[in-house]
Amino acid sequence: MEWTQDMAVGIETIDSQHRELFKRINNLLTAIKEHRCKAEIDGTIKFLDEYALFHFTEEEQRMEKAGYDGLADHKVHHATYMKNISDLKAEAALPRVQGMSYELSVTANQIIVDWIVDHIMKIDKKFGEFVKDRK
Ligand SMILES: [Fe+2]
Repeated sequence: MEWTQDMAVGIETIDSQHRELFKRINNLLTAIKEHRCKAEIDGTIKFLDEYALFHFTEEEQRMEKAGYDGLADHKVHHATYMKNISDLKAEAALPRVQGMSYELSVTANQIIVDWIVDHIMKIDKKFGEFVKDRK
């Protein structure tokens, strides 16, 4: 998956953090696809988990400072994502037999990739518009 210009929120710090998030998601997808060992997959999930938390905190702080009325809803969305990542972590921890990582890959695509693209396009962009309108 690739970050494309049409995903730009218009706030440079947030856009560059989104690009970093995509990089970390790609690392995870590659690790799953290439059937890397459990320790490596766990490592990429942890790497993503930490960055997602860091990035969401940054976004929420900016929203709070800006007096954004969509903050409460936005926080709920972020909490859902953190839960998705922790569900994935739990799934990755299950003993795997051959072929099982296909399921892990499907799950990762649905709850990690689809969610983030949808969130950026529909939810983060609203905040970008809000900031732009206030200038
Ligand atoms: Fe967000």
